This record gives sequence, structure tokens and C-alpha cells, in this order.
Amino acid sequence: MMTYRPRRNRSSKSIRNLVRENILTTNDLIAPLFVIEGENSSIAIDSMPGQARLSVDLLVKEVVELWNLGIPCVSLFPALDDSKKDKYATESYNDNGLFQRAIRAVKEACPEILIMTDVAMDPYSSDGHDGVVADNGEILNDETLEILANMAISQARAGSDIIGPSDMMDGRVGYIRDALDDAGFTETLIMSYTAKYASAFYGPFRDALDSAPKSGDKKTYQMDYANKREAIRETILDEQEGADILMVKPGLSYLDIISDMRANTTLPIAAYNVSGEYAMVKAASERGWIDGEAVMMEMLMAFKRAGCDMILTYFAKEAALVLNR
Ligand code: PBG
Repeated sequence: MMTYRPRRNRSSKSIRNLVRENILTTNDLIAPLFVIEGENSSIAIDSMPGQARLSVDLLVKEVVELWNLGIPCVSLFPALDDSKKDKYATESYNDNGLFQRAIRAVKEACPEILIMTDVAMDPYSSDGHDGVVADNGEILNDETLEILANMAISQARAGSDIIGPSDMMDGRVGYIRDALDDAGFTETLIMSYTAKYASAFYGPFRDALDSAPKSGDKKTYQMDYANKREAIRETILDEQEGADILMVKPGLSYLDIISDMRANTTLPIAAYNVSGEYAMVKAASERGWIDGEAVMMEMLMAFKRAGCDMILTYFAKEAALVLNR
């Protein structure tokens, strides 16, 4: 006699539906989008099939489409001309800059969708780094904080709902929180890139923004991928500094970090299913080596199973189309 037959709970679609532990809905998805200058302009990103840099008019259309598919949030990134980049990322807090104009246009066309905006110097930095680079190559932490705060305030003023510091400077969440509060933006959320690792999975994103470091790497600020305990240290600090939502990045190779953080915080957790992860699935799927759609859905559910409340993913639109089918 066999007392336990776990297969009984898998024996039909109906029983599988009853016992399913996690669900994925369009409400879990945040769509990253890239904006460029110009009009009616869409420039494909070669290493991210299906993704493009969009001028503000096309960006607005895309956001409305995403909202109509049930996606509650978009995360915006600016791709700037080299002529707008300098050592101190001054263009990042120009209230009439490309990014701020894009935020205002999206807010006006689609006021209910949440706009998340990235706070880091790299899209604006002539050095391609997330912080100020000293003559000796050192990345200066405290000098960077004020620039990040100016950037966050300018984005909030333009209409950003969620500030996403992605730079990994020490103390930036608290510094930005204070600056936002002092400027009257007490209701603007902060989704902190809490555990952001120095990763080769960001390659296609840096292609999209032409934002790769001109020299050196990001290992003195982004985390060492050998470390796990350190993510809990960052979690505690971001909680103390007033983060509203914590993020793990990259996502797929870091499900253990998500799971560990889930056990150590009551705050919501997001995963960033990054550009390199997207590119791998697209490349294998184009070659017919995997079923791209099935792999996409399996990956997104893995984030929910690991303990995520939400997922930033370039698959957002494709997944929403599948979920709404
Ligand atoms: C910039 C930033 C990066 C990503 C998001 N914000 C790149 C980096 O840190 O070098 C990567 C996103 C992706 O790969 O999809 N601070």
C-alpha cells in the first residue's frame, strides 16, 4: 500500500488549478522603456529583439497601450546624445531635459499609470559611471549624493511617482528621502535597488544607452556576486533610510537573494529581470532551441515563487498579451 501519492494533486487541470501556490497577473509587471530625442522615431536595440528607443510621442503611445493591457507601472530610462553628457551629469536635473519632458508627456497622456524613474548618473555621465569619478579613478560617494538628490527632485517635479536609485552609493536612499521631503514630495515613493550586483547581464542595456564605463568597472559600488549575507545588510540599511520597496538585480541568477530578503523584511520586493536575461531567451528562441513564450512565463513565475511582489521585465507587454488571452 502506498499512502502518499503526490501525483493525485497533479492529475487534472482542475486539481492543479486548486493547489497552485503562486499566480502571475499583469498587476505584477513593470515595463522598462527607453526614450530618445526626436519625433516619430523608433530605433531598435539590436541586442534586445523587440525593444526600441522611442521618441516622446511614440513613448506616450506605448505607455497607453501598456496601461490598456493592465500594466500598472512603467520604468523610464533616457538615452542621451554624447553632447549632453559631462563629468557631473548636470543634464540630469535640467527641468526641461529630454527625460523630464518625457515624464510630463506620459503623465499628461496616462495619469493613472505609475511612472518609475531611474536615479543614477550613468546615462548622463561622460565617464559612464554611476558616481563622480575623481582624477585617480576613484568613485566619490558623498559628492555624488547631492547630484542624485537634485536628479530625484527634478524627476518628482516632472511627475515621477516612484524614484528608483540604481547607483549603489552608500546612504543615497536616506539622502534622497530627506531631499524629496524638504522639497515637498513626501508622497513620492522610493524603490531602492537594494541588492544590485556587478553583473555581466547588463550588457544589452549599456548598448541601448551607450552608457558602458569608459574606464574601470562598477565593482567598487555594485555588489560582489559571491555574496549573499551582504544583501541582508543592504536590506536593513534601506529599510532604516526609508525605502518603500526593495529591489534585487539581476533577477534570474539571484532568486536565492530574493528568497532570503523575503524572509528578512516586511517591505514589498521587486526583481529586475535584466537585459541580458531577456537577450538570452530571445536569442535561443529565435534559433528554435527553446519555446520562448513558455520559458518567459516559467521565468516570470519563478520570481513570484521566490517571493517577489513585482517584476521589472522587458517581457511585460508580451506576458500581458499571454495573460489576457
Ligand atoms: C544604471 C542602470 C543599469 C541598469 C539599470 N540601471 C546598468 C548598470 O548599472 O550598469 C541595467 C538594466 C538592465 O540590464 O536591464 N545605473
